[in-house]
Amino acid sequence: MLIFAHRGASADAPENTLGAIKLALTQQVDGIEIDVHQVEQELVVIHDRWVHRTTNGTGQLPHYSMNQLRTLDAGQGEKVPTLWEVMQLIAGQCMLNIEVKGLKDVALVITLINKAQAELGFKQEQFIVSSFDHHLLAQIKQLSPTLKIGALTASKPIDYALFAATLGAYSVNADITFLDQAFVDDAHQRGLQVMVYTVDEAEDLEMLYHWGVDGVFCNSPAKAKMFINSIRS
Ligand code: G3P
Ligand code: MG
Repeated sequence: MLIFAHRGASADAPENTLGAIKLALTQQVDGIEIDVHQVEQELVVIHDRWVHRTTNGTGQLPHYSMNQLRTLDAGQGEKVPTLWEVMQLIAGQCMLNIEVKGLKDVALVITLINKAQAELGFKQEQFIVSSFDHHLLAQIKQLSPTLKIGALTASKPIDYALFAATLGAYSVNADITFLDQAFVDDAHQRGLQVMVYTVDEAEDLEMLYHWGVDGVFCNSPAKAKMFINSIRS
């Protein structure tokens, strides 16, 4: 079961900052998950549409220019990073799950993934582009058919993982709240990986491990890794 740092190692560093990414890298995670929004023609790494929860600013992200956004403190003196800065920091050391939240120009994300392969030593299979916006995922799949797509769901659809298979996704990225063995088995029968968020309790990790879940997004990835290694041995 692969361990992904959720918003970086976000239990111990401000979420979605370079500090949280650096910490996750020292913990030798299998992958890192971040949230991405478009501001002007840039992709920035931040979870919410409003900036007040994670920065010292106020107001909505779409009202910010890049220059204004970069004056904000995202915690411990850090700026809201760009996706390219995060890619430069990771530079192929682990997988990167780019969760697309607010994006008008889908080509932006594909361009950066291609550039990261050309300039930073990433392989395409190290990227997963996930979203709750399945229309957007369909557009990405059309533009880049070999890129891994993660179809996010916070529910248990009536046809289980059919929606993800229809999209040609690589994985179902599911909320633990509604996941069960039947959903996991259905996804696997359709040839999909199952990735689950957000998992930080030992009992949950053990349950998902026994269900055959392929990857988990954890705020405390170091603890999750230790626990999984202990039940494996
Ligand atoms: O990508 C998994 C998870 O991050 C989805 O929910 O709200 O934490 O971005 P959220
Ligand atoms: Mg996310």
